Amino acid sequence: MPNPFKPTAGKTPPVLVGRQNILEDFRFALTDGPGAPGRLRYITGPRGVGKTVMLNAIGNYARNLGWTVIDQTAERGFAEGIIQALSDHRSVQPNAITLPSASIATPVLGAEATVNLGKVELRRLEKAHNLRLAIGAKLDSLDESRQGVLITLDEVQMTSIEEIRSLAIGVQHLIREDRNVAFVFAGLPSMVEEVINDKVITFLRRAEKDHLGSVDLREIWIAFEQTISQYGKRADYQVLNELTQATNGYPFMIQLVGYWAWRYADVNGHDDRITVDDAEQGIRRAKLKLGDMVHAPAFDGLSAMAKDYLIAMSQDDGPSRTADIARRIERNAQFASVYRAQLIEEDIIEPAGYGYVDFKIPYLRDYLKEHAAHHQMKMTIRNMLREGESLKELNPKKTEPRGSES
Ligand SMILES: Nc1ncnc2c1ncn2[C@@H]1O[C@H](COP(=O)(O)OP(=O)(O)OP(=O)(O)O)[C@@H](O)[C@H]1O
Ligand SMILES: [Mg+2]
Repeated sequence: MPNPFKPTAGKTPPVLVGRQNILEDFRFALTDGPGAPGRLRYITGPRGVGKTVMLNAIGNYARNLGWTVIDQTAERGFAEGIIQALSDHRSVQPNAITLPSASIATPVLGAEATVNLGKVELRRLEKAHNLRLAIGAKLDSLDESRQGVLITLDEVQMTSIEEIRSLAIGVQHLIREDRNVAFVFAGLPSMVEEVINDKVITFLRRAEKDHLGSVDLREIWIAFEQTISQYGKRADYQVLNELTQATNGYPFMIQLVGYWAWRYADVNGHDDRITVDDAEQGIRRAKLKLGDMVHAPAFDGLSAMAKDYLIAMSQDDGPSRTADIARRIERNAQFASVYRAQLIEEDIIEPAGYGYVDFKIPYLRDYLKEHAAHHQMKMTIRNMLREGESLKELNPKKTEPRGSES
């Protein structure tokens, strides 16, 4: 039997553990008709928590109801991608609808908004207009009493903010006209919050939020049991317990642990079962893979100071005292608290009682302990450079190039 587990970003798992309530919510949003609040929503949470998979699940749900679903990632040109997908690659060319000048009155622009528009705003509204026409035309071709258009947008971030604004304006108008549309977007917490709090478009602030976190261990246990037996192997209580414990409730780890335990069972010649040995070998391998696939990218994306903060935390074996961390990174408490707040917002650490923080992503502590030597060295060099700079201030005649902070 093929390995049922899917430890790959964005791949639908054999059992979607612990997200039933969100799907249920979305089901109501679709059946409640135009204007239902849950039709405008966003999914956020740390890396590997299942945002993309959730967008897929929501998309599939809508598709099964006969909706047209357009899935896009918020990269440059995604707005055109939506228009193209809606027009079934037929006649619509990019920028087919062009507003000729700032003096035109369209339903999107409104007569009052036609003067003194800058180039950027005009382009934004033009794109919004095109999106609205494309979605509207698609809706016209459907039986709108039961079908609609759902747009899903993954990896939302500020670099695509102009196109996101256009899409938001377009969707806002369609919602106002009671058309059968839904818009669900997803992204890492800090990125998606930045977009939501955009100063130009406030519409997205009304979106309902699904903040994904870890899932219940009992549900994970059941999912392991079902998946393993359905695909032709047996696993006893101890194996299921060990696999479940090793996930720490973290969705990506469910797939990693399941995949590697299954794989070792195959390698060890156990066609019809997973033994405790297979499970333990699998768990060890899964932890290593988690480092490559989750910890490394999550860590690499952080600022140098945030990295130092985490390295300083990894010296403890349990929750860290924030005062100790500030001392270890040789900064005052106020400075350290800025990075504390940032890492909490990123879902990487969490408060653990007054004056304490702890890791939120499982096994990140172990990963950092293993990789600390390398980063510690970088940190020392940076501190040396910083000290060099303060010396320079005392002796301003010296004009050496500044040390890099990265
Ligand atoms: N609820 C779940 N139950 C079981 N497995 C899950 C669940 N959610 C996600 N997974 C698995 O976890 C892995 C990561 O999921 P996904 O790629 O959706 O995460 P993400 O939040 O989009 O991550 P990123 O921030 O890196 O884009 C996939 O292998 C997926 O199959
Ligand atoms: Mg994703």
